[in-house]
Amino acid sequence: MDQPVAIGIVTVSDRASRGEYEDRGGPAVQQWLTRAIASPVEFHPRVVPDEVPLITAALRELCDEKRCCLVVTTGGTGPAPRDVTPEATEEVCSRMMPGFGEAMRGVSQQIVPTAILSRQTAGIRGTSLIVNLPGNPPAIADCLGAVFPAIPWGIELIGGPRLETTAATGSAAV
Ligand code: MTE
Repeated sequence: MDQPVAIGIVTVSDRASRGEYEDRGGPAVQQWLTRAIASPVEFHPRVVPDEVPLITAALRELCDEKRCCLVVTTGGTGPAPRDVTPEATEEVCSRMMPGFGEAMRGVSQQIVPTAILSRQTAGIRGTSLIVNLPGNPPAIADCLGAVFPAIPWGIELIGGPRLETTAATGSAAV
């Protein structure tokens, strides 16, 4: 049996972290990735409030200690004062991957005009790829559908493990 691939999922939400609101974003990301990845995967879900120090701590832990090759965040990408996920992502990454945000906004804008409000980005920390997604589950499916096909090769290029995918890697995966 192959060693499972570690993947982190960080839900960034004040209300979900206080338990006032059910986390729907994190489970939606996990469900989508479970359908798209054929390799054995160990998911490491986290729920944190919209605070840069707490988001960066979760990202560092997942990349450096849990050795996640991929960390997907959901939520906190908009323009509201407490939306700080992109800033936290930039703080922990050595290199940014702007094509991810461009592709996700490009696809999403065909679906909802408000997609332009997401500042989502992606970047590299060591041998981990960090990708921001918006918080709502339909947006998660739209955005993963747009960028997932590039993720396994991106992870391999930065020195991560090989991710085998299923046929459901396009936007039809959910
Ligand atoms: N992208 C898609 N595909 N679908 C959506 O419904 N919502 C937008 C945008 N991107 C949306 C989307 C809206 S309304 C906002 S405010 C931003 O994502 C930021 O969302 P977040 O703060 O939950 O990250």
